[in-house]
Amino acid sequence: MSLAAQVKDTGMAAVPQAVVAALWLLGLTAYQAASVASQPPPDLATGATAPISEDANSAETELLPSIVKGPYLLWPASDSMTIAWETDLPADSRLDCGLTTPYEFCMEDPNLVTLHSMTLMGLRPRTTYFFRAGSGGTLGCKSSFVTAPTRDCSFRFAVYGDTHSDANEHAAVVQSMMGSHPAVVFHCGDLVGTGRDYEAWRPGFFDPARPMMLTTPLVPVPGNHEYLGRGPLWFFHFFVPPSEGGWWALTYGDVRFIGLNTQLDYAPGSEQYQWFLAELESSEFSQALWHVVVFHNPPYTCTDVHQDDPAVRACLVPLFDQYGVQLVFSGHSHAYERYSRRGITYIVTGGGGGPLYRLVEDTVPPIRQFGATLHHHCIVDVNAPDQVLRLKAVDPNGQVFDSIEVGSAPVTYPKPE
Ligand SMILES: [Fe+2]
Repeated sequence: MSLAAQVKDTGMAAVPQAVVAALWLLGLTAYQAASVASQPPPDLATGATAPISEDANSAETELLPSIVKGPYLLWPASDSMTIAWETDLPADSRLDCGLTTPYEFCMEDPNLVTLHSMTLMGLRPRTTYFFRAGSGGTLGCKSSFVTAPTRDCSFRFAVYGDTHSDANEHAAVVQSMMGSHPAVVFHCGDLVGTGRDYEAWRPGFFDPARPMMLTTPLVPVPGNHEYLGRGPLWFFHFFVPPSEGGWWALTYGDVRFIGLNTQLDYAPGSEQYQWFLAELESSEFSQALWHVVVFHNPPYTCTDVHQDDPAVRACLVPLFDQYGVQLVFSGHSHAYERYSRRGITYIVTGGGGGPLYRLVEDTVPPIRQFGATLHHHCIVDVNAPDQVLRLKAVDPNGQVFDSIEVGSAPVTYPKPE
């Protein structure tokens, strides 16, 4: 069954309308809002929100929607940023934004929805924008974001995975990660333990990740646990990936990041494989200095739960070799592992919060170069014009337990027969 069919079967409305208006203020040229109408979530607990009107009477206050997830930042680019949030009641969408506060402009979408997603476009690169999002007379707390840089700029990104639904461990990892101030965070999948269970998402992911996602955009790929349980594929509703299948590519500075969905078909001839091949042949890919791929199931891992994924090794690794990918991140194994094969560094970063796995002796080449069983995240520094990436693995106390340098010169191999 295709993803579209799965979503349709759940009774969810398709991601609908777009409101596009010309905004000539402050470099903003267009604004798009996409929102998902869904059943009102049963959890009516309030988030960190504030009513617009301070003197509303009690009856009116009861009708005010509360923000129960977010606002959170998604899908960064040098000229755009997506801001999403969820309300407990269907409500309109409002986004105040600007280069300064008080905000220079306000944008609104009158459609009554619970999942709100607005994409600002026409932004300036590497620029701080202040914003406040809300619905139905309730606004979330004030925050800001920085757009992605263009070429030849230094920045820092973070990668982690397998947060599952362990809120305390996840919160500790998030706190440690925020101490490094990454510009963007990538997630290797298994954000929660049971992805089709609506109740799993707020306490299991959005609450512990909230301080990070309010200021730092998250770019996730789905893991196998996003597909577990009964009900809608909430991952796709909360994160609104650019493609229906959940795969994506984006340029951030000199880096081309590619995210794949290893829960859907990626064998030669599949839609995802053909998309990935086209991406590898694209000018965006060839013009980038660095090529980083993120997906859930690792080609190389050796724990008491998971071993190398043979399908990833057979279908994807040859493309990494052929097109000069330099760095690959996966999760699935709840540990940290580092491999190197044909000049490509493979990192397993599955220590975002889920119960940890035990490393076992690795006897199948490539042999693991380093591994550790602990919760952690990865930090990567891109220091233009250096020709190296500097990667650190960091535990929840902020201690670095592994560090390497990755060279930029892509090692390419001919297409296998
Ligand atoms: Fe997994």
